[in-house]
Amino acid sequence: MRTRPSGPSRRATSPTTGVPPAACVVSAAKLPPTLEAPLARISPTEALEGLVPDAPIVLVDTRDMPGQLRAFIARLTAAEFHGLVILLTPFVHVPVWLQSRHRMAGSSEGHRQARAVEYAMRELVPAYLDRTGRPFIVPPFPDLMGVSPSVERIRALLPKVAAHDRGTVLIRGESGTGKQVVARGIHDYSSRRGKPFVEVNCTALPDTLLESELFGRERGAYTDAHTARRGLIETAGDGTLFLDEIGHMTEKLQMALLKVIEQRTFRRVGGNDEKTSNARFLAATSRDLKSAMEEGAFRGDLYYRLNVLTVGLPNLRERDADALLLAHHFARQYASDYDRPVAGMTGQAALMLLEHQWPGNVREVRNIIERAVVFHDDEWLNAGALALEGGPPDRGHPNAGETSALHVDPSGAIRVTIPPWGISLDAVERAVVQAALQATSYNITKTAKLLFISRDTLRYRIKKYGFSPPRGG
Ligand SMILES: Nc1ncnc2c1ncn2[C@@H]1O[C@H](COP(=O)(O)OP(=O)(O)OP(=O)(O)O)[C@@H](O)[C@H]1O
Ligand SMILES: [Mg+2]
Repeated sequence: MRTRPSGPSRRATSPTTGVPPAACVVSAAKLPPTLEAPLARISPTEALEGLVPDAPIVLVDTRDMPGQLRAFIARLTAAEFHGLVILLTPFVHVPVWLQSRHRMAGSSEGHRQARAVEYAMRELVPAYLDRTGRPFIVPPFPDLMGVSPSVERIRALLPKVAAHDRGTVLIRGESGTGKQVVARGIHDYSSRRGKPFVEVNCTALPDTLLESELFGRERGAYTDAHTARRGLIETAGDGTLFLDEIGHMTEKLQMALLKVIEQRTFRRVGGNDEKTSNARFLAATSRDLKSAMEEGAFRGDLYYRLNVLTVGLPNLRERDADALLLAHHFARQYASDYDRPVAGMTGQAALMLLEHQWPGNVREVRNIIERAVVFHDDEWLNAGALALEGGPPDRGHPNAGETSALHVDPSGAIRVTIPPWGISLDAVERAVVQAALQATSYNITKTAKLLFISRDTLRYRIKKYGFSPPRGG
C-alpha cells in the first residue's frame, strides 16, 4: 500500500507468502481464505481515507460505497495510483485505466492493459462474486441504470408506482434525465404490460391538433375532417397514455384532461357521445409545474391531481459516478452496433466525465459516446475522443442544446442551425425520423419509403430513439 502523507500506513501483503497481492478489492465483505491469494481487501473507509492499494488491479464493489465513488476516484488520482480500476455494478463492470496517457495503441503496454482487463474480468471478478457469495442481482427497472443513491431510491420506488394501477404519475426531470425510460418502465412493470403504450408530446403539436390527436374527432368536426378518427386516449385502451411535456398544454385541454382522469369520460371533437377511458395516465415535465401553477399558467386542480405520485429524476451531475457507468454501457452498445472493440476508459476520460456538468444529462452522454466510438479507433476511450470542451448550451432552456439548434415546427418543417458548441447528428436524425413517423401516422412501410431506408433500419432507429408507435390505432 502507498498512502497519502496523512493517511494510515499499512501494506496489504498476503499473510501466507508475505508478497503483495496481484489485485485488491475495495469491499465491505470478508474474503474467504480461498480468495486471499489473488485478492487482498481494503475496506471502503480505508479507501476513502486515502489508503492506496499497492496492487496494479483494483476491484471496487460499488454496493459498499454508495455516493462515494467520485470521491474515491479523485483520491486515487490525487495519490497517483497507476493501474486498472474496475467498478463492479449490477449493470456493467467499468474498467478505468488510471494515468494511462503515455499508452500507445499496439504497444506492449497496450497488450499488458488488455490482458489485465481480461484477467480481471475472467478470473478475479467471478471469483470475488461467487466465493464471497455476493453475486449481483439484476435490480427491477434495469433500463434505468445508475448506482448513485438517488437513482437507487427511484428504482426501489418504481415497482410500487407501477403496481398502483390507476394512479396518475407525474415524472419530473430536466431534458435527457430518463423520463421516458421511467414512463415505459412503469408500463412494462404494471399489469398493463402487453397492452398499448401510447406516447404524445404536448409541445410537438399546436393546440387544436393536439386536441383531436388526444380525443379523436367526428366526421365534419372541422373543414378538413372528412372522416371520423379515434384519438390516442382510445388507442391507449386498457394500456397507458404517456403525456410528455404536459406543462405545454393549454388551459382548455388541461380541463378536458382533468375530466378524463377524474371521471373517465370524454368526447371526441365535434362529437356528442360520452366515451369512457380505462387508460392509465402518466405525465412528464421538464418545467417546474408548481411555479407554472402559481403563475396561473397551469391549473391547480390538474396539478394536484397529477402530483399524487411523483418521480423526480436527478440531473446527471448530481449522480455521483453514474456518468462513468452510463458512458461504458453506451460505449459497449455502440461498439457492438458499429463492430468496434472497446476495452474501457482512461483515467483522464473518467475524470472528464466526472467533472462535466452534463446540461443534456444522459442523452448527452449517449451522443458523446456514440461520436467517440465512431470517430476514434482506440479501444480505450480517452479524453481526446470525448471532446467535451465545447461551450455549454443555453442552460436556461428546458431542452438545452437540442431545441435551440433544432426546431421542428407544427407543419413538420425542421430547421437546423449549427451552434458554436455543435449539434449531435443523432438529434437531427431523431427529429427527421420522428417527423416522418408522424407524417405517416407511424406506418412503418410508408415511413421507411419516405426515408429511403429498409424497414429493419427504421425499426432499429425507432428502438434506438425510444419512439413508441401507438398500437392498435
Ligand atoms: N438511467 C438511465 N439508464 C440508461 N439509459 C438512460 C437512463 N436515463 C436516460 N437514458 C437514455 O438517455 C436517453 C434520454 O432519455 P429519455 O428520453 O428518457 O429522457 P427524457 O427525460 O424523456 O428527455 P426529454 O425531456 O428531452 O424528452 C435515452 O436514450 C434513454 O434510453
Ligand atoms: Mg422525453
